[in-house]
Amino acid sequence: VYKPIFQNKLPIPPEKSPKYTYTNQTTGAQIDYYEFEIKEFESQIYPNLKPAKLVGYDGVSPGPTIRVKRGRESVVRFVNKAKLATSVHLHGSYSRAPFDGWAEDLTEPGSYKDYYYPNKQSARTLWYHDHAVSQTAVNAYFGQAGFYILEDGAENALGLPKGSYDLALALASKQYNSDGTLFSPAAERDSLWGDVIHVNGQPWPYHSVEPRKYRLRFLDTSVSRAFKLTFETDDNKKIPFHVIASDAGLLPKPVQSDNLEISMAERWELVVDFSAYAGKNITVKNARDVQADEDYNSTNKVMRFVVGNTVSNTENNNLPSTLRNVPLPPNKSGVDRQFKLERSNGEWQINDVTFADVNNRILAKPPRGAVEVWEFSTGGGWSHPIHVHLVDFQVIYRKGSRDGVLPYEKEALKDVVLLGKSETVRVIARFAPWDGVYMFHCHNLIHEDHDMMAAFNVTSLGD
Ligand code: C2O
Ligand code: CU
Repeated sequence: VYKPIFQNKLPIPPEKSPKYTYTNQTTGAQIDYYEFEIKEFESQIYPNLKPAKLVGYDGVSPGPTIRVKRGRESVVRFVNKAKLATSVHLHGSYSRAPFDGWAEDLTEPGSYKDYYYPNKQSARTLWYHDHAVSQTAVNAYFGQAGFYILEDGAENALGLPKGSYDLALALASKQYNSDGTLFSPAAERDSLWGDVIHVNGQPWPYHSVEPRKYRLRFLDTSVSRAFKLTFETDDNKKIPFHVIASDAGLLPKPVQSDNLEISMAERWELVVDFSAYAGKNITVKNARDVQADEDYNSTNKVMRFVVGNTVSNTENNNLPSTLRNVPLPPNKSGVDRQFKLERSNGEWQINDVTFADVNNRILAKPPRGAVEVWEFSTGGGWSHPIHVHLVDFQVIYRKGSRDGVLPYEKEALKDVVLLGKSETVRVIARFAPWDGVYMFHCHNLIHEDHDMMAAFNVTSLGD
């Protein structure tokens, strides 16, 4: 059992600088060139046991944060110095298909691949992570995940918290062997819940904050665990906060809430105002899937903010009442395509297809530019966070174990939606800007690997 809860500092991932910059001769844009090595490293989680052997981008996890300005382009070389093949997906980017981390586009140990990213989308919190076929769970869980933050002028002008007041927080739930090494998800076929909650690679950390506003960019990198987060005082009072952004950037306006549901691969950004809590603790707790088992006795806790008494910088302490005009897809009635997510013969499937079924796995051919409504449903006792590559979608319908769209989901653009147990969810998206074959799948990485993943082909012709 891990003891030092809220006693270790929150790690802040290093920021990655470009190795050099050059000019794209076609577009005239500046291209920043980055280079990463995927390699092994050790992480001492339990003080008196063996270190966990991990594999990460540049030998850290989360990987170094890339911060780019909209309008600059980037080329990122990933050199595979690890033992397993890799494929890198920049989750949240409308990358061209050859640079989207197609699961079978493997970079073998000893080789490398250069990925080109356009960075033309609006400001948002993206993340890069492994997507290698059948071993994404192992690769991502052992460390291959990092933040990629796209900034733009419109967002900068809002005066939202910046610098040390803007924190990227990668949640992860893991399980360790009794010798201190990390338990592998390789043999799992259902889920890996994990009983040790990490933020930025540290179990149950604390972070000292000033009594002012902070921007918190939450990302759930867990293999299988979704969270319902609350922020609580020492006497268990929930404090309200504002949700300001989703997977694809800012909401139209801040939405006040006292809890946040976040499932695997989702990003939700909050502004939390600590100004009324000088000298106090605010603890982030979890109310979802908390197991009664003794090993799971702390899965109801996530991290702690220790609020100091002085503010060293009062700039960028704004929370404007409007944030941006969100380019939601036009309204459309009806359902264009239906997908059933079920388990059969020990495999996780979408419309009875697995990703290994290469002749049948292209399940949709949306004409490029078309606006379509996709419906996902599941009947069983499982929930599935569905990720559609390439597009930003709006969640327009939910029925089943939960009814209705969450208040902060309503006008958000997203690329992952949690399909809860026995739910039907509809999303609407414009299938653009490029032609190409892209994946969509469950982001419970065990389900994704075995083998709840399919593809769609955006074509000029359509089908
Ligand atoms: Cu976050 Cu297809 O992945
Ligand atoms: Cu699933």
